[in-house]
Amino acid sequence: MPTTTGMKGGGYYDANSREQRSASQSFLPWLETAIAELPEPPPHQQSWNLLDIGSSEGANAIFTTERLITALRKKNDLPVWAFFDDLPTNDFNQMFLNLFPAGKPVITDNNVYAAAIGGSAFGRLVPPASLHLATTFNAIGFFETRPVASLPGFILPMMPNPQAPREGVQVTEEELIPFQKQAHQDLCHFYRARAAELVPGGKLLVQIFGRNEIHSTGHGISDVLSDALLDFVEADMLSRAFYEEFLFPASYRNTAELIEPLENVPELKAAFRIDQVDARDVPVPFNEAFTANGDRAAWARSYTGFLRAFTEPVLAAALPDKLPQENTVEKIYQRIERLLQDHPDRYEFHFISIATLLTRL
Ligand SMILES: C[S@@+](CC[C@H](N)C(=O)[O-])C[C@H]1O[C@@H](n2cnc3c(N)ncnc32)[C@H](O)[C@@H]1O
Repeated sequence: MPTTTGMKGGGYYDANSREQRSASQSFLPWLETAIAELPEPPPHQQSWNLLDIGSSEGANAIFTTERLITALRKKNDLPVWAFFDDLPTNDFNQMFLNLFPAGKPVITDNNVYAAAIGGSAFGRLVPPASLHLATTFNAIGFFETRPVASLPGFILPMMPNPQAPREGVQVTEEELIPFQKQAHQDLCHFYRARAAELVPGGKLLVQIFGRNEIHSTGHGISDVLSDALLDFVEADMLSRAFYEEFLFPASYRNTAELIEPLENVPELKAAFRIDQVDARDVPVPFNEAFTANGDRAAWARSYTGFLRAFTEPVLAAALPDKLPQENTVEKIYQRIERLLQDHPDRYEFHFISIATLLTRL
C-alpha cells in the first residue's frame, strides 16, 4: 500500500504549496535548456510526450508543464501529450478543474492534449519507449510502502534536529538502516521504470525535498509536528504508543544518495547519463514574507498551512478512531500554529531542494 493517500484536497494543497513551486522552479532551467538537444520524435510517433509524476492537484504541475511546452515550441509545432500522474487516491477532480477552469483548457496552445494517470511513481505508468520528457517534483521522497521497521523515538526516519532537542526524542544510527535501504530500493524502482518509458535521448528531471551538509528540509516541520504530538501525549489526548508507531513516511536524501543507484547499479548506469546534480537552499515564500514584514502570526499561519497540506492525510489516517477529544486533527494543527508563533527560532525552516537531470542513453 502507498504511504500516503495524496495531499489535502479540495484546492488546499494548491493554495499552500508556493514553497514546493519555488523548489521545483529552481531547477526547471536545466530542462528548458536541455530541450534544445532533444531528438525529434520518429515519424510513427508524431507527438511530444511529457509525463509529470506526483502532480497532486495540478496547479504547480501545470505551471511547470506549460514552461516545458513553451521550450518545445521553439523546436516545432508537433502535437503534445501532457500526462499528469499521481496515486489513484489523489484529488483528480481538482486537477481537472485546474486543467479546464470554466470548462475551457487552461493550456491555450490548441495542439496540447492533457490526460491524467493514476499509478505509483515506483512502477510503470506508460508504454515502453514512449516518453520524451519526464519530470517529478517534491514527490518521490515519500516511501513506496511503509518500511517494515519501527522508530519509537521520533516521527521521521532521520536524526532529530540538534537545534530542537526534547526529552523522549531519540534515534540511533542502527534504527535508520532499514529506512535507508528502502529509500535506495525505491529509487532503483523509480529509475528502472523511467528507463523503460523514455525514448533514447529522452530527459528525466528528478527533484525532491532533501538535505545538504547543514540543513534538512525535514527540520522544523518534523520538530513542530513531533512537539505537538508529544504535547498531546503529555495531556493524555494521545497515547505514547500512538507516537511510537506514527511515522511520516518520507526520506530526506542528499545528492549522493539521489544519484547513487545511477553510479553503482550496472543496469541503471548503462541506462542514464547524469547531466546535472545539485542541492539548493531555495527561497521559502513564507520566510521571505516574515523577513519583509516581521509578522510572526502570519508566518506561523502560512507555515502551518504548508505543513498541513502534505501531512494531514497521513496523520488523519493514522489517528485512532476513538479519541478523548473531538476534532483532534484540527486541534493538533492549532497547537502547531501556536508553537510556531511562540518559538520561531526552534522551528526555523530551510527548503533544501535536490535534483538531477538525466538523459536516457
Ligand atoms: C508534495 S506533493 C507535490 C506536488 C507537485 N509535484 C508539486 O511539486 O507541488 C507530493 C505528491 O506526490 C504524490 N505521491 C506520493 N507518493 C507517490 C507515488 N508512489 N506515486 C505517485 N505519486 C506519489 C502525492 O500523492 C502528492 O500528490
